[in-house]
Amino acid sequence: MGFDLIVTNGIIVTASDVLSHGIEIGIKDGKISCLGTCLPRESSTEIIDAKGAYITPGGVDSHVHFAQDNSPTGDNWETGSRSAIGGGTTTVLAFASQRKTEDSVLPCVEEYHKRAKDQSYCDYGFHLILTNPTPSIMEAEMPLLISQGITSVKLYMTYEPLKLGDSQLLNVLMSARALGFTTMVHAENSDIISLITDRLEAAGHTDPFFHAISRPQIAENEATYRIISLAELTDTPILIVHMSSEIAMKHVRKAQTRMLPIHAETCPQYLFLLSERLKGTHKDKFEGAKCVCSPPLRHDPKDLEAMWRGIANGTFTTFSSDHAPSTYDHAGGKKLGMKDGVMRYRNIPNGVPGVETRLPLLFSFAGREKDSKLSLQRFVQLTSSDPAKLYGLEGTKGSIAPGYDADLVIWYPETEMKEGVVIEQKNLHHGVDYTPYEGMTVKNWPRFTILRGKTVWDRENGGIMGKMNAGKFLQRGKGRIVAGKTGQEVNGMLTGERNYWY
Ligand code: URP
Ligand code: ZN
Ligand code: ZN
Ligand code: ZN
Repeated sequence: MGFDLIVTNGIIVTASDVLSHGIEIGIKDGKISCLGTCLPRESSTEIIDAKGAYITPGGVDSHVHFAQDNSPTGDNWETGSRSAIGGGTTTVLAFASQRKTEDSVLPCVEEYHKRAKDQSYCDYGFHLILTNPTPSIMEAEMPLLISQGITSVKLYMTYEPLKLGDSQLLNVLMSARALGFTTMVHAENSDIISLITDRLEAAGHTDPFFHAISRPQIAENEATYRIISLAELTDTPILIVHMSSEIAMKHVRKAQTRMLPIHAETCPQYLFLLSERLKGTHKDKFEGAKCVCSPPLRHDPKDLEAMWRGIANGTFTTFSSDHAPSTYDHAGGKKLGMKDGVMRYRNIPNGVPGVETRLPLLFSFAGREKDSKLSLQRFVQLTSSDPAKLYGLEGTKGSIAPGYDADLVIWYPETEMKEGVVIEQKNLHHGVDYTPYEGMTVKNWPRFTILRGKTVWDRENGGIMGKMNAGKFLQRGKGRIVAGKTGQEVNGMLTGERNYWY
């Protein structure tokens, strides 16, 4: 047999264990073929000496926006996926976004496939953003998409061109229940935001900072509780994306305590950035536009601490980047948000970059040091194995075990990383012109990223080594519930009085 590659001397971290006793990883044909000691070498076997460094499964970023219609100056597949592997992410799940006027989603999915094909450095899949869930789409097209490996949808409760009302949300949840797809929800109360925005505008408060004022925690709180209620009624699992506030997170925690299959996601921006960043700098008052995202950055360091607690205590199932930036200068954020010398937050495209910095930022706080906030296993769960399970990639992505794709991140040995790494825009590989983390120091950075047995990022020798067409489309299976009643089928059991109507 013989291995193509053996990774030796590392400390293997999985969702359950830290294996620090010299276990080797044997890789053949892009898959992990065995873990063991004293694996046999042949002359053709490549050896990577991990020198006592941590080895984690390749990152699975289950929430990125690449090449979307509504973000003309954002990342395309080439730049976005390149940025992913530069930061240890080997799988991304992006979006195909239905336009409200479309009564079929198949042409739209086709179009998004074309944008990604042969353009990705990492493996990828799609979620479908449903903005007009007609009966024929739900009955005829969704089963087809599921059979083609698109097994999740995102629904919006806010944004005029995207949002669904409660009856539409209920219908999609009933369909999710019957068909077994995974439902992601952007939970903010749209009418609250509109009311405040109109009144702020009338009072002349249109600077980027007022973006945060216009989307208060109560808007997230109300929508979160509402969608959990609709999910409970229909007995359907959901994942609430990009959660930013404790008051909303508590609803998730309570639901999970009741064994409801309610999942939640948070993102780096809600662990590290506060709304004061929206005020800009002396040099550039408009610079706050770089940190406009929704839900917005919150005001109080206590809000960040609350999100860290949700990370550590298991409330969050996934830690994704929600990478959705627009170029700041020139055609992007600045020009759109600034007209005739007046700043208007309403016109600033929402979203920050983060696909490349996601793993290093969280890894800095994982482990057993004094300032650690989560275990190494929790790091792996949040960044790789749980998103893989939730979105139907179990058995292929998200673990270091025989049969899985050989997607690995090899970090620097601590002996070689005493000073840490300063995050700088000039070292990142995305297509936009800023990072909100400029100047921040992280403790470590991926030394190697390995995609299906091939080194695609080598920080010491050449940087990006992968090829733009190396990433393949992942035909995903149905997701597995990882919060609440685990083991329950996604399209659940009929129990008790609920029998009478579904
Ligand atoms: O501000 C954000 N998050 N924009 C991206 C779109 C979304 O809602 O995820
Ligand atoms: Zn040995
Ligand atoms: Zn969203
Ligand atoms: Zn998003």
